Amino acid sequence: MTKKVLMIFGTRPEAIKMAPVFHALTKIPNLSVQVCATGQHREMLDQVITLFDIPITIDLNVMTEGQDLFSLTSLLLTKLRPVLDELSPDCILVHGDTTTSMVAALAGFYCDIPVGHVEAGLRTGKLRSPFPEEFNRRVSGIIAQWHFAPTQKNKDNLLAEQVDKSQIFVTGNTVVDALHQMRDHLNKDSKLKIDIQNQLVRQLGFDPKESERMILLTCHRRENFGEGLMQICSAVRVLATSHPGSQFIFPVHLNPKISEHVQATLGMIKNVHLVKPVSYEVFCYLLDAAYLVLTDSGGVQEEAPSLGKPVLVMRENTERPEAVTAGTVRLVGADSKRIIAGTEELLTDSDLFKKMSQAHNPYGDGNAAMRIAEIIRRSL
Ligand code: UD1
Ligand code: UDP
Repeated sequence: MTKKVLMIFGTRPEAIKMAPVFHALTKIPNLSVQVCATGQHREMLDQVITLFDIPITIDLNVMTEGQDLFSLTSLLLTKLRPVLDELSPDCILVHGDTTTSMVAALAGFYCDIPVGHVEAGLRTGKLRSPFPEEFNRRVSGIIAQWHFAPTQKNKDNLLAEQVDKSQIFVTGNTVVDALHQMRDHLNKDSKLKIDIQNQLVRQLGFDPKESERMILLTCHRRENFGEGLMQICSAVRVLATSHPGSQFIFPVHLNPKISEHVQATLGMIKNVHLVKPVSYEVFCYLLDAAYLVLTDSGGVQEEAPSLGKPVLVMRENTERPEAVTAGTVRLVGADSKRIIAGTEELLTDSDLFKKMSQAHNPYGDGNAAMRIAEIIRRSL
């Protein structure tokens, strides 16, 4: 008998990391795979859905400008109920630590539908950091029947919370699958590569691959709103002014709490290039071209090490300590002095740069999605 899997996701990173899982599941016989996009993100989600060719069964279209956690959480819960009633899936798959993930897991719990949690077990150990993601991920972890942990460390975190070991599967992170797929796609399709180059030359006035010292920047964390973002922008201003030969490329998150401040403080600096969020294929091209990466993003912290790019993480802690231990990622906080010092060191100390740019990936081998699909097949 055909079993029904419902994947529920709503933001850019969830879609990137669930795309390989979707495609792996569709290869399994007697399995019907449906996708509910919550639309927690809009343009940024649509970019990924189009690129990875994911058919959406239901789109809840919940995003509103400047949404807050109360309205988002309640709207998601209310809108998910009729979806679960109508589709009555045999299991639900959620991803990571977003509010979509937490609420979808909760909705599954209320309807007594088993939940699989992809990217389970990452922890900082601090409930409010990252906020609200650490809480979200823990809630999905309490509910989940299957925990797809990217690393052994993530599994250990779950074991320490008394999750039964038979329910935890170390699969690798599906972000590595997505990155490999995109890299192969870019390598195979030379026309696409040229299109991307042309698009970037039009947008920036140069090809980032030709720029010797391009620094790629992203930031969006709620705990960095306000003071943290001021510190980050002030560091970028100082660095860009003292290194006029370096180019800073900053795809700015669409959250107005980020974009308004970034535009106001960095908009007029010649070698700081503020662009709208770019498609995943363009972002992979930029990552590959970067000399180093400054970010507070979870996904970017995982991707950059596989391309051998040193990363300075603008947060005080991380639920992804594996690359810190391996030496490719350093925590500098959202603190302008430490961001400047860390960047200066990497621009001037070639031994340190070499040490931090060893390509390797503690997060997986690119086959995580296949493993997850196989476990779902066996379990249903
Ligand atoms: C959300 C997640 C965060 C994740 C991040 C990835 C929560 C609480 N936060 O944070 O865990 O790391 O996504 O990017 O789940 N916006 C648009 N268009 C878009 C996307 C966002 O205009 O395509 C604007 C809207 O004004 C929206 C605002 O950004 O209200 C904030 O979006 P939201 O999803 O609440 O927060 P993020 O900071 O994106
Ligand atoms: N990304 C993208 N376009 C951009 C910036 C980032 O496709 O302009 C990708 C990036 O490669 C990574 C993901 O978006 O896979 C990270 O998303 P984000 O930083 O918004 O969320 P987080 O990972 O912190 O939850």
